[in-house]
Amino acid sequence: MSTSPILLGVNIDHAATLRQARYRSAPATCGGMIEPDPVELALAAERAGADGITVHLREDRRHIQERDVLRLRECIKTRLNLEMACTDAMVAFALALKPEFACLVPENRTEVTTEGGLDVTGQQSRVRDTVATLTAAGIKTSLFIDPDDRSLEAAAEMRSPFVELHTGAYANAYFSPAAVPELERLRRAAALGQRLGLTVNAGHGINYVNIAEIRTIPGLHELNIGHSILSRALLTGIEEAVREMKHRMRS
Ligand code: PXP
Repeated sequence: MSTSPILLGVNIDHAATLRQARYRSAPATCGGMIEPDPVELALAAERAGADGITVHLREDRRHIQERDVLRLRECIKTRLNLEMACTDAMVAFALALKPEFACLVPENRTEVTTEGGLDVTGQQSRVRDTVATLTAAGIKTSLFIDPDDRSLEAAAEMRSPFVELHTGAYANAYFSPAAVPELERLRRAAALGQRLGLTVNAGHGINYVNIAEIRTIPGLHELNIGHSILSRALLTGIEEAVREMKHRMRS
């Protein structure tokens, strides 16, 4: 089990959500007076200690645009983690982009954000082929899954080196008695993942409060955090927001 400090991937999708709220139909999405620029925010997050930058290029392009991802690929100095649906179009995009990591996520047009984990057992051959294609291109894959035995065992069979445990159910239950079993579910899943030889990340709904418990889950490699950091950044600036999250991940 890893005893290194947990890494922080900063998800900057919501910088683009804010930009798109005003500039959805603008011909260019960067430069000039069009703010905020997700790439500038990513670079500032890196300066404050982010270990990687995560973006989700959704099919409906509701926040991040292809141009953002291409600029990130050129500019960032850490590692790019592309969250993507398991579709031919996204696989082609990832092969051309060559991010260091690709996290396969379910996608549903009507959801506000990614709601459940990837149904690995329901689409084994598609997931297996996607993992194999991306791996052959030197891209390390992760599967975003619910923290249960079945999903972990299926993920291990797909030969993906990483999984990302969906922490949303725990985050939603945080102020209720259900938080205790949800945290236990995450602990068990992280332990099983490691026994199965997977490197275990986690993400979704992690904030400045629940990080106190999330960080105690043994052996987590990296957390992907977006909404809480971008929200805090409105008050403090992104560099302070990232520094504070890193501090809480350690202390
Ligand atoms: N990990 C995955 C796979 C996600 O889809 C998301 C949401 O885009 C996150 C992490 C970050 O979630 P949040 O914005 O709630 O921190």
